[in-house]
Amino acid sequence: MRKTPTLDQHLNVSDKNITSVSREKRVFKPTAEFQRQANLGSMAAYKKLHAESVNAPETFWKRMATEHIVWRKPFKKVLQWKAPQAKWFVGGALNVSENCLDRHLGTARENKAAIIFEGEPGDVRTITYKQLHLHVCRLAHVFENLGVGKGDRVAIYLPMIPEAMIAMLACARVGAIHTVIFGGFSPEAVKDRINDCQAKLVITADGGWRRGKIIELKSAVDKALPACPSVQACLVVKRTAHEIKMTEGRDIWWHDAWKGGPNFHKAKAFDSEHPLFILYTSGSTGKPKGVLHSSAGYLLGAKLSSHYIFDLKETDRYFCSADIGWITGHSYVVYGLLSNGSTVFLYEGAPNQPEPDRFWEMIDRHSLTILYTAPTAIRAFMRWGDNYVLKHRLDSLRLLGSVGEPISAEAWQWYHKMIGKGRCPIVDTWWQTETGSIMIAPIPGVTPCKPGSATLPFFGVSIKVVDESGKEVPRGTGGKLVITKPWPSMLRTLWNDAPRFKQAYFSEFPKHPDWYFTGDGAQQDKDGYFWIVGRIDDVLNISGHRIGTAEVESALGSHPAVAEAAAVGKPDELKGQALVVFVSLKNGIQATDELKEQLRAYVGKEIGSFAKPDQIRIAAALPKTRSGKIMRRILKQIAVGGEVKGDTSTLEDFSVIAALQSED
Ligand code: WT7
Repeated sequence: MRKTPTLDQHLNVSDKNITSVSREKRVFKPTAEFQRQANLGSMAAYKKLHAESVNAPETFWKRMATEHIVWRKPFKKVLQWKAPQAKWFVGGALNVSENCLDRHLGTARENKAAIIFEGEPGDVRTITYKQLHLHVCRLAHVFENLGVGKGDRVAIYLPMIPEAMIAMLACARVGAIHTVIFGGFSPEAVKDRINDCQAKLVITADGGWRRGKIIELKSAVDKALPACPSVQACLVVKRTAHEIKMTEGRDIWWHDAWKGGPNFHKAKAFDSEHPLFILYTSGSTGKPKGVLHSSAGYLLGAKLSSHYIFDLKETDRYFCSADIGWITGHSYVVYGLLSNGSTVFLYEGAPNQPEPDRFWEMIDRHSLTILYTAPTAIRAFMRWGDNYVLKHRLDSLRLLGSVGEPISAEAWQWYHKMIGKGRCPIVDTWWQTETGSIMIAPIPGVTPCKPGSATLPFFGVSIKVVDESGKEVPRGTGGKLVITKPWPSMLRTLWNDAPRFKQAYFSEFPKHPDWYFTGDGAQQDKDGYFWIVGRIDDVLNISGHRIGTAEVESALGSHPAVAEAAAVGKPDELKGQALVVFVSLKNGIQATDELKEQLRAYVGKEIGSFAKPDQIRIAAALPKTRSGKIMRRILKQIAVGGEVKGDTSTLEDFSVIAALQSED
């Protein structure tokens, strides 16, 4: 496994980044109007609760867990921590789907919209809490009839349609562990994920709509399944109604299975630590990591953070544009929002279909109040032009959110002015698949915002910026971002790979085996605000998609023409980072444009089209150390077209650099 580069190595290349983030000096104070109605009324209240949450975490979390979760059996102990293994709310039992659905029945929320769905073609469906409960109950019966229950894995490969949420909640209801696979993944990637977790059931759709075209989901599953012996059945939602192949004895239409079943399903109680889902994410090796989250702690993290950071009110209509296949969709479309009894707006398609004003048009038409999106989307909106925004009122919006990568001061300002009309606070939320819920973010109405900074830690988050040895660095200095205490929604392990779990997250600082290393670089300013620099490991953030360089390299390594490949990121105005891959070819193979195109397509096939390299550079050789390690730092500098600076004394063959620079 590759070692994280030293801080110096990293900061050499991202100095620019660090200074540019701190250039924006303006502070945006909450408006009195927002503050008056905020769920957490004052800075003093934030400070008091935060201090309690980190100084007396057990008292704090005991109270929160009691207030926010519907328990079937009360827990006996708040935390059992033997790094890297945390157990939260030991001895307690609950049902997560009951916490998202049944708790609202018999209350004023029963007939409130849980989901307002709009398909890309314009079809709209509203599903109330009571109706959602019915859907989930029926599907839970279907699962049980198929022999899917506690601990079984279910792979969900669906478009952004209500059935995706129903399927997740039905898994939670019967204690099955879901793994949602983003619809942009290729059959190859679907196969790997299904096989890694040995899923018994797959849930997909005939297709989904994207930019006016059909995404062929079922046919992708058809390609994957012959190599997935664990799968016993495949449930198929009819969405696009185009012709697909159904395999006898394996494939079942959702609407057929669903028909006529009982409308009520008595949810069983599961242990606090019972696994809720696996979500695959990229790490620094070729194999994705199966991040495992458990029930009570995860749910509490998602619920509490949604309540305070989105300042949720009974009347909100909340729109998160992230796909359900990413952690944002899990925590801030499904679990955090439904457990709070909120109305979630779900949109199936692309933001520029039929025109680049689709979001703004929907926000007006559905009176949406909160928008949570990603900087990469904001940059696209900026590029499409203000006119698409100015055609719409957007006066229903009251809060905006950002997630996935650092938001530049420029994008922040645009978002604030053009979308929020200067009226809506922006919550820039820093977190990860592994943290399960938001770790650093402003409390709207309370925390003064500095564009580009995710501001201050959320409740229960003990986080700092340290140097190589684990010593806290002075304010204004860059370092590694670490979380020094366990938190309820933290990942519990990597599926089937406990050694990698420890190695990847709890081994960066040998003196502190109980510190979680985030993989991010950051600095704190004089006010203690956190400024995230970005990943300092070999993980790229391309349009908000997390892609491991090693994953791309290992995909290319399996191509017959490729001798060696090294993937690096280069700053990109639109995507945040663009993917550049340096490739050396096997003897006798000619470098042609056609081959470059073939290699790009090959990565698309192996991983998914979102991972296709932006640029492939073919080189006679890659720069290496004498011990044979590829010097990525040098490749990064070449990728941005810059001079090669810094220490090259370990480089084995200097002529390689000149050759690489002349190659485009
Ligand atoms: C990585 C985690 C958490 C949901 C989306 C991504 C980067 C995330 C921010 C932010 C700066 C951010 C970090 C982090 N990141 N949010 N507000 N400011 N950087 O989840 O795929 O697990 O990626 O995304 O580098 O480590 P993910």
